[in-house]
Order: sequence, then C-alpha cells, then structure tokens
Amino acid sequence: MKANIDSLDVAGKRVLVRLDLNVPLDASGSITDDRRIRAALPTVKKLLDGGGRLILISHLGRPKGKPEDREKFTLAPVASRLGEILDRPVKLLAGDIDGAVRDAASLKNGDVVLLENLRFHSAETIKDKKAADDPDLRAQKDAFARSLAALADVYVNDAFGTCHRDNASMFTVPQLMANKPRVVGYLVQKELDFLGGAVSDPARPFVCVLGGAKVSDKLGVIQSLMTKCDTILIGGAMAYKFLAADGHDVGGSLVERDLIETAKNLRAAAGDRLMLPTDSVAAREISGEAETQACGLSIPDGWMGLAIGPKSVKVFCDTIAKAKTVVWNGPMGVFETPPFDVGTMAMASAMADATDRGAITIIGGGDSAAAIEKAGLADRITHISTGGGASLEFLEGKPFAALDVLDDAKAHRVCG
Ligand code: 3PG
Ligand code: MG
Repeated sequence: MKANIDSLDVAGKRVLVRLDLNVPLDASGSITDDRRIRAALPTVKKLLDGGGRLILISHLGRPKGKPEDREKFTLAPVASRLGEILDRPVKLLAGDIDGAVRDAASLKNGDVVLLENLRFHSAETIKDKKAADDPDLRAQKDAFARSLAALADVYVNDAFGTCHRDNASMFTVPQLMANKPRVVGYLVQKELDFLGGAVSDPARPFVCVLGGAKVSDKLGVIQSLMTKCDTILIGGAMAYKFLAADGHDVGGSLVERDLIETAKNLRAAAGDRLMLPTDSVAAREISGEAETQACGLSIPDGWMGLAIGPKSVKVFCDTIAKAKTVVWNGPMGVFETPPFDVGTMAMASAMADATDRGAITIIGGGDSAAAIEKAGLADRITHISTGGGASLEFLEGKPFAALDVLDDAKAHRVCG
C-alpha cells in the first residue's frame, strides 16, 4: 500500500501536486467535461486546509510544439474553472520553469498556483526506454525533472489517468525527490481501491463489458480479465473482429485483419466465458439520417455494423442483472450518433440498475464515462474511473512505475 496525504503535515510546505487535468475542450476552448477537475478537489482542498502552499502540475492533450499549440493546449480554462470551484484565485504560471521556481518561493500558506501545460516542454514525455539509448534525451529529461523537483518539499501524485506513463513529472520527479515525502492523493487511492478490489477479490459473478473500436488496444486486458471474470461481453466495433474470426461476413465493419488470428486464439482460450453480439444495427454510413437495417450474425457487403442489436442488448442486460461485480470499458457502438447509441445507453441503464441491486459497478474509459453522464446515471454507479488507458492497463495488471517509486505506507514518516 502506498502512503497517502493523510500521513503528511503540509503546513508551510511547498507541495508539488501532479494532477491529470487533461479535460476535453471544444473548438472555442471551453471545457466540455470537468469531471477530472472535480475529482482532484478532495486532495486539493485537504492540502489547502492543512496550510500547504500548492503548486499544481498537469498536462493537457498532446501538443507537438507548433506555435498555435500554446493557445490550443493552454491550461488557462482549467485554472479559471478550478478557481471558480475552489472560490479562490488559481494563478496560471505561464512563464518558464525558473520563473515558476521564483514564484513558488513567495507562495503563502493556502495559496495555490497551476503551472502551464507540462507538455509544452518536450522533455516531459521522453520515455525512459528511449532515454536509455540516448544520453542527450536522458539529460534533457533529468534537467527538466530537476527543475520541477526543486519547486517543492513534498510530492503528491493524484493523476490516476496518467499513472501508466513514465513522463518526467510522473516518474523522474518523484525519483529525484527520494529524500522528501512522495505520496498518493485521495483520487489515486480511491482508483486503486476500486479497480484493484474488483480484480483481486471480486464479488461473483464478475462480468466485464468491453467495447470500443480497436481490439489492439484491449488485447492485454481481455487476456488478463479472461482469467479473472466469469463472463466477458464484447460489443462495439471490436466485436466484428471476433465475429470475422468466427467466419461470419461482417460487411464493411471495422476489422483489423492482422488481428484475426489473435482473436481466434483468444476466443478459443476463453470458451463460453466470452460472449459476442448475435445481432447488429447496420448502416451504409455513420449518420443520424442513414438508412438502418437489423442484421443477425452476418452483415451484407456495403453495410457496417454500428451498434449491437436488440437481441444482444437483452442478453447483455440479463447477464449484467445477475452480476455482483461489473466492469465496463468502451461503448457498444457509435454512441455519439443516435440511433447507434441504443446499445450503449442500455448498458448504462443496466449498470445503474445493477448498482441499485447491490452490485459493485465500475466504469473505466472516457467514452463509457461520457455515455453514463449523457444518460444522466453517473450518480448511480459505484465508481467511474478518471483513467482511460490507465484504468485498462491497471486492470490488465501492468506495473505502474509512477506509483512504484512513491513511498510505501509502512515506511512513511510524517513530514514535520
Ligand atoms: C489520458 O487522457 O489518457 C491521460 O490524460 C493521459 O494522456 P496521454 O494518453 O496523452 O498520455
Ligand atoms: Mg490516453
């Protein structure tokens, strides 16, 4: 178990808090979903109430160093949203890191600042694997991490959504702060408790619902969950790879041909535990006005399966209804475009009903989280993870270097 912020006395201390404030923005730069900001609040409030001097750090999107990226990926909307919710100013430190070091020195107890997007510095995302073969990259990453580490007396990681990355701020900074407290925040703690609990000691039947476009993204998680859960329901575009592997005609549905063999092997290994849709809603194009047709296992040429069909919806919902633990990641079709949202919305309702009946329900991944919000059912789910890739990799059982580097609860001393 990792030490968390409860073990800290932060009064008068400069606390570097790595958050995942990578929120979706619309074309005008307005935040379309502030869930990740709200999820960070318990930690931020606790540290402020404790008299800490907070330096918040995060990335936003994947800027590539183009001049227009400075505006497109600025954390300015996040700073103002956070300020509104906290009801105190959150200054955005947009200058260079040395300027931030100077500003951090003048912070007072209960002050909070947010550093501009960490990914404006290319060193942030240098992977350790690449740096191992390139001393210049290693030096760049270390120098950047050293300047961040110099900002603070304490390091807090509450950026669950980024925990699968070895970005400088996630891994190298705490590595360099070895003589200072390095702990997790309440969000990371909660994510580990729920996601970890679901896979290590699930109440059974344990059902996983997996969807989304690509099998390649989810191969590892399917392989790993296959050994842990009682049933895996597969829907969305991903299902057509498996149906194609079974020899069905899937028309123009999305298929990664090079993965058909792998899909066959997974199917054979999973046996009856892996359930696929037996019908689909198909169309010739992805459009709300498109002509649709109900298809069985085969889809005609020129048509694409865009959502699971009504028979599959019923079977999937009945399976969820009997479960004691349900983990859902990935939509059951093109849910952004009705009528192809029907299956996804049905899963959202089935999850909420399962929670009401006492099951533990967990949602991971931005799309399923967005679907549950769209359905207005978010408050009837046990836990909605703030991680997309991170929650998948965690469920898959991959180690997270960004967490391993932090202090263990036992070994932790109170910072006083
Ligand atoms: C995410 O949304 O997946 C996290 O914020 C991590 O971002 P990344 O996938 O660009 O590293
Ligand atoms: Mg990601």
